[in-house]
Amino acid sequence: MSFEHDEEICNESGNRPFQDVLNANVERRKVLQGGLATASAVFFAGGAGGAIAKGFNNIQSPLMNFAPVPNAEGNGPIPTISADYQYDVLIPWGEPLQPGGPTYNYPPSAEDQALQIGIGHDGMHFFPIREEGLPRNGWDQDLWDDRKDWYYNTQWGTNGNDRGMLCINHEFGDNSTVLGKNTPASLEDVRASQHAHGASVVALKKVNGSWQTAASPNARRIHVNTEVEFSGPVAGHALLQNAANNVPKGTVNNCSNGYTPWGTYLTCEENFNGYFGATSEWTATEEQQRYGFSSGGFGYGWELYDERFNMSNPDYANECNRFGWIVEIDPFDGSKKPVKRTALGRVKHEGIAITVGRGGRVVGYMGDDQRFDYIYKFVSDANWRSMRAKGQSPLDHGKLYVAKFNDDGTGEWLELTIDNPVLAQRFADQAEVLTFARVAADLLGATPMDRPEWTTVAPNDWVYCTLTNNSRRGADQTDAANPMGPNNDGHIIRWKDSDQHVGGDFIWEIFLIAKDTHGTEQSYADPDGLMADPDGRLFIQTDGGQKDGLNNQMLVADTKNGELRRLFTGVTSDEVTGITMTPDRRTMFVNLQHPGNGDPTRTNFPAPQDGVTVPRDCTIVITRKDGGIIGS
Ligand code: FEO
Ligand code: CA
Ligand code: CA
Ligand code: CA
Repeated sequence: MSFEHDEEICNESGNRPFQDVLNANVERRKVLQGGLATASAVFFAGGAGGAIAKGFNNIQSPLMNFAPVPNAEGNGPIPTISADYQYDVLIPWGEPLQPGGPTYNYPPSAEDQALQIGIGHDGMHFFPIREEGLPRNGWDQDLWDDRKDWYYNTQWGTNGNDRGMLCINHEFGDNSTVLGKNTPASLEDVRASQHAHGASVVALKKVNGSWQTAASPNARRIHVNTEVEFSGPVAGHALLQNAANNVPKGTVNNCSNGYTPWGTYLTCEENFNGYFGATSEWTATEEQQRYGFSSGGFGYGWELYDERFNMSNPDYANECNRFGWIVEIDPFDGSKKPVKRTALGRVKHEGIAITVGRGGRVVGYMGDDQRFDYIYKFVSDANWRSMRAKGQSPLDHGKLYVAKFNDDGTGEWLELTIDNPVLAQRFADQAEVLTFARVAADLLGATPMDRPEWTTVAPNDWVYCTLTNNSRRGADQTDAANPMGPNNDGHIIRWKDSDQHVGGDFIWEIFLIAKDTHGTEQSYADPDGLMADPDGRLFIQTDGGQKDGLNNQMLVADTKNGELRRLFTGVTSDEVTGITMTPDRRTMFVNLQHPGNGDPTRTNFPAPQDGVTVPRDCTIVITRKDGGIIGS
């Protein structure tokens, strides 16, 4: 089913790891600046024994004072949480977006679904609100500045812990789950499926210790038929125009996320290709092949009733280019259209981790989740505050790079620019480079990775990235950064930029290899969701077949000594993904995606177990029983 489609291969570029090995012999290691030389000394030259964290729980981390969920309890149809923690369920699929909206009724009508929480809960971010009462317009810059203090010191401040706007992605829901049938029989069916996808902006408040939705003019559903705008170098380009002259609409397969220092949400379009199909003769272009378009798509059948998604209709020939972007949403202004930020490139975006680099420039690290695809970095042209003061978006003006991991523990950021003769030979302008970023990265010789998923920036400026797995990497295709062939269970890599996130070089090392944990009490596989906290913890979420009888789960790692502890396990055949916290770090939100893969004989969560009620994607609210910091 569609949750497996991100495991296909689209990169036939020949950028295979053995070529990097050859290059490593002729290309001298670049000299890194200052303190980085010391850090690079801890690099381990690859191989499963070279990872830093082993995943054994025989060390006593000062950061973690909670009882881990034992392997024997981490399975079954309802979640399990550490004995020191508790959880509640919030906003399951189909709940009214705000009080008074249409209540859940299975299967949802298209009309109701447009006013209800979507399905496929994934990346999300909580934007705190300081003052009493909702609604409130405008981002509170002081809250971000508090947060920065928190980030580099220890506390995030005391405001906005009981109310805020939660932006949440609705990645996907199969027809069998959303419609109760495999193939749509009408445009009404297609619209119901489309309205279940996208994102929600939800107003939340805590009442008597319990989180609930609140009414707000800024609460809204954003789905496949919501009007959007394009901004940045590709906006207005012929590649985004159709003969039908249809208004740009929609976002789809919204996977992970990011958020900006100016208080906006970034939702990332991942497996957008699968929603397109062809009803008659159609041949994919080279670029369409590179992005995985096919006449059958993932079987959603939207093309049967909605011509936008029919690749064989020449009137909509460029509709496919309108997806694959990162989309900015203002949680505090419901009248603003979502904006597709084209300077960030078009790939199968997993997510984006934004940080502020040297000179106040905004930097975003992004994974393109497919076997043998790449890791990207965006750097704004100038200080984000001065750009915004001039009325510019820092996400519209900047440079896009792709990563090359050398075998000696160094790496290079290769710029995707039309000024490079290699790219000028293939593309007419920068808009083409960005729209076909995968093809451009192939030409530059980027390093094919084992499915880059989430990225997160730790306060000490190490950037972590999950490489979830790659069963197709051959034993002869390994390199130091992707040292296993096949890589069935995944690993986590980390790097540090040579110049406060704006440099052209970096050093890197492998942080964790999942298979090292198998047979231990902290067994896990297929790392995906990821969040670094200010104390040196790393929250790791999983998506894939766990070993040792476990459901998918969330663990906490101490990045200093490598200790791992399991905090939470989900339900049968789900995925644990999406992670955000209140400013005081006393409340964490995570998601259960596709519980039971929609099959009520496996689980009925969050309903009581009755064997027949359709399970629903939902948000899990996690607190410590003693009110302490989450992860501690
Ligand atoms: Fe949507 Fe790569 O996970
Ligand atoms: Ca998923
Ligand atoms: Ca993911
Ligand atoms: Ca995944």
